[in-house]
Amino acid sequence: MSIISDDYNNSHEKKEPKKKNPIVKSEKTDNDNKFENVIRPKTFDAYIGQSSLKETLKITIEAAKKRNTTLDHLLFYGPPGLGKTTLAGVIAEQMGVEIKITSAPALERPRDIIGILMSLKGGEILFIDEIHRLNKIAEEILYPAMEDFVLDMTTGKAQTVKTLRIPLPKFTLIGATTKAGELSGPLRDRFGIIHRLEFYTDKELSKVIERTAKILEIKIDEKGAFAIAKRSRGTPRIANRLIKRVSDYALVKYNSEINEHIANEALDILQIDEYGLDTADRNLLKLIVEKYDGGPVGIETIAAALGEDVRTIEDVSEPYLLQAGLIQRTPRGRKASPQAYKHLGYKIPKSMEQQSLF
Ligand SMILES: Nc1ncnc2c1ncn2[C@@H]1O[C@H](COP(=O)(O)OP(=O)(O)O)[C@@H](O)[C@H]1O
Ligand SMILES: [Mg+2]
Repeated sequence: MSIISDDYNNSHEKKEPKKKNPIVKSEKTDNDNKFENVIRPKTFDAYIGQSSLKETLKITIEAAKKRNTTLDHLLFYGPPGLGKTTLAGVIAEQMGVEIKITSAPALERPRDIIGILMSLKGGEILFIDEIHRLNKIAEEILYPAMEDFVLDMTTGKAQTVKTLRIPLPKFTLIGATTKAGELSGPLRDRFGIIHRLEFYTDKELSKVIERTAKILEIKIDEKGAFAIAKRSRGTPRIANRLIKRVSDYALVKYNSEINEHIANEALDILQIDEYGLDTADRNLLKLIVEKYDGGPVGIETIAAALGEDVRTIEDVSEPYLLQAGLIQRTPRGRKASPQAYKHLGYKIPKSMEQQSLF
């Protein structure tokens, strides 16, 4: 696997404000980069959950192998930390081909994308992360490359302009995005296969935790793993982060393997509640409930009040709050659900009681 560029380390990227407690935020941090490669599953067997997606992919891969062709271009979408990058690596491994990894913000100039396309060898996989952030020029270079495996280059100026068509080897593009809706129509249409990654069940996350613990030589029992899984917001990246924090706690405070009691105590100290929410998430809910009477309130208002940017809230905090049924999206903004009131320890307002009886 070759990492061409990493947008998280790119200097032209705007730095996001530092989070007070980034443990349960599913975005990748520099600290993750260090150990993610060690624990990242490399095969379908090691890749836990997402079973229907896995089955579909296995068949697609077998068919491509039997026909001796490359895979169709694939697009994966879903919240951060659910295993999009990991899956791309598993596919490359299963196909027995190299994968080149880059991300849209690193493809700013035409020559960035041209350079990568020209460096590809037959059958290789090109992985573009955050593909919804690709600029127009890069997209337009990509269209003929995806469709006909050619690069259309123009040379000369004004009247003497000439188009030069350069053939490329056949390759597979795998795109990943947290926001499928922001992908341009023409780009989306050029992907043969589009899949959404789902949040993981507690049972699946338990397996992720047990697997990671084994690799990192952390001792944990079944109930301990489940206790961490329950507070991992359906997200393997968070589960992997929590296991390390809980393991530190178990070592220092108890010098013992992680069990349910130790896990819960450590997570309480980290202020991660039964929904896996941290202080920042609870502040978001509290804002809607306390200041805006449950909403609806616009996302820009929420972002300004919390000193966050809209994108971080939409991509990182919100998907799980929506999935957990704690907030709802309405045309007029975000609303807190009756569950949110209950979770924060407030009485459910009369006007909402009807809603809570399902
Ligand atoms: N299905 C899975 N089984 C086990 N571990 C997983 C799985 N999916 C993701 N992970 C772990 O979670 C972390 C984040 O996965 P990643 O592929 O980087 O997420 P994404 O690209 O969707 O943000 C990785 O360290 C990986 O080891
Ligand atoms: Mg990724």
